[in-house]
Amino acid sequence: SAPAAQILTARDQHITWHDGGVTRGAKEALLNQRGCVVWFTGLSGSGKSTVACTLEHALYQRGIMTALLDGDNVRHGLNCNLGFCEASRAENIRRVGEVTKLFVESGIITLASFISPYRADRERVRQRMGSKDFIEVYMQVPLEVCESRDPKGLYKLARSGKIKCFTGIDDPYEVPEHPEIALNVNDAQGRRQSPEAMARIVLTYLED
Ligand code: PPS
Repeated sequence: SAPAAQILTARDQHITWHDGGVTRGAKEALLNQRGCVVWFTGLSGSGKSTVACTLEHALYQRGIMTALLDGDNVRHGLNCNLGFCEASRAENIRRVGEVTKLFVESGIITLASFISPYRADRERVRQRMGSKDFIEVYMQVPLEVCESRDPKGLYKLARSGKIKCFTGIDDPYEVPEHPEIALNVNDAQGRRQSPEAMARIVLTYLED
């Protein structure tokens, strides 16, 4: 895959920060909401996109302005020059973190759905956003379950060696240590949880 871009500092490039005239607080007051990012992380097939979409609908119905950033979609455009080696995944998450920050600073509740397999990459986004604006949601779904779902047939391709560096098969996934929310595949009674039930858990967290 393509190498990640070299990161230059502001000093390297003689660039200066300009503050905008309209503050984040003013934008949040206009929208009557507070910006934050809900960052979904988990294996392919763990339900990140499904729960994020369900949550976005629920927020929309409550009159809340949202933005949804999804790995597959962002890789069609902004990040179409990135592959799946460790450096490219890091660059993917760095760029998405920056885009997310722009949305959040405009008062928008931003739902980000990325495998984001490396703890350090996720933590970098958390640091950049500030802890109170970053809600990490771990899709706690075992590999066997994700692989049995295999919605895009990618696990099958990975097992047969047709896709290399596939997360969970021949590439790592580092489980979050302290996510704000962990969504278990089963509820307390051991029954499979629906995407609606999972979205409700996140919604309740946001309302609180
Ligand atoms: S990452 O790890 O955060 O940079 O990945 P992300 O941007 O979320 O993109 C994940 C989607 O890319 C498809 N895909 C792969 N996933 C994992 N490993 C490999 N090698 C790979 N190749 C393609 C796959 O459709 C992922 O989408 P989800 O929704 O997670 O299944």
